[in-house]
Amino acid sequence: MASLSGDPYPYQQQARPVSRGAFIVVEGLDRAGKTTQVKRLCDSLYAQGHNVKMIRFPDRTTPVGKMIDGYLQSKAQLDDHSIHLLFSANRWEKAAWIKGQISQGYTIICDRYYYSGMVYSAAKQNPALSLGWARSPDVGLPRPDRMIFLDLDAKEAEARGGYGEEKYEKRSMQERVRELFLGLLLKGEEESTDMVVVDAGQSVEHVAHAIWKETSGVVQSVESGSRKQIGTVGPWPEGQ
Ligand SMILES: Nc1ncnc2c1ncn2[C@@H]1O[C@H](COP(=O)(O)OP(=O)(O)O)[C@@H](O)[C@H]1O
Ligand SMILES: [Mg+2]
Repeated sequence: MASLSGDPYPYQQQARPVSRGAFIVVEGLDRAGKTTQVKRLCDSLYAQGHNVKMIRFPDRTTPVGKMIDGYLQSKAQLDDHSIHLLFSANRWEKAAWIKGQISQGYTIICDRYYYSGMVYSAAKQNPALSLGWARSPDVGLPRPDRMIFLDLDAKEAEARGGYGEEKYEKRSMQERVRELFLGLLLKGEEESTDMVVVDAGQSVEHVAHAIWKETSGVVQSVESGSRKQIGTVGPWPEGQ
């Protein structure tokens, strides 16, 4: 239902008071189905009476986002660390807005977040850019209440129309990215509790159903006051 302002999810009166909105992130390789599923999840939550906002990273509309866009399209060369910090800055410039919307009762569904940030940079195999280093500038960002990793074999992802021309759209890179994502589950840090893996190789309907099972309860419980404050991304122990 589009409003005059063009917002597909205009504010709707809530039946019950909302403590705060939830922060849900959808992650995965290129072509895993993130954009498809983020929209489906927003539509379903909104149809059930929740107030929702859909966002994505990188946000290419800001000045920092435009630099990232130039890099991804290979129009600009940047040192691995520099571009990494720009991706992080792009999330930081939205952090206060995210917190504000959540405190006003909007549930935010976010297409990629800091997980992609650290994992894609670490997948470049630059010996001076470890996963731990890559994660550190994101410490302090709003922590998701749930992260869904849409898991798809790099070969299957490629079969969904082939990769485009952008920087990271190469099979070997995508394979390393997948391994690094799945490795987060085994680390025993906060990502292992926040992250749920969903098999993205099934039909759009099946995947949407699996995501719903893993998120609707979290949204309900956060909105009704189970976690008053949104968390923050905490540091990993030294040396990781
Ligand atoms: N479960 C699915 N099965 C088959 N094709 C899919 C599925 N989900 C998405 N697609 C298709 O794969 C392509 C990439 O989907 P998209 O949602 O844009 O992925 P992402 O945002 O992760 O790159 C699109 O052409 C989309 O229609
Ligand atoms: Mg997408």
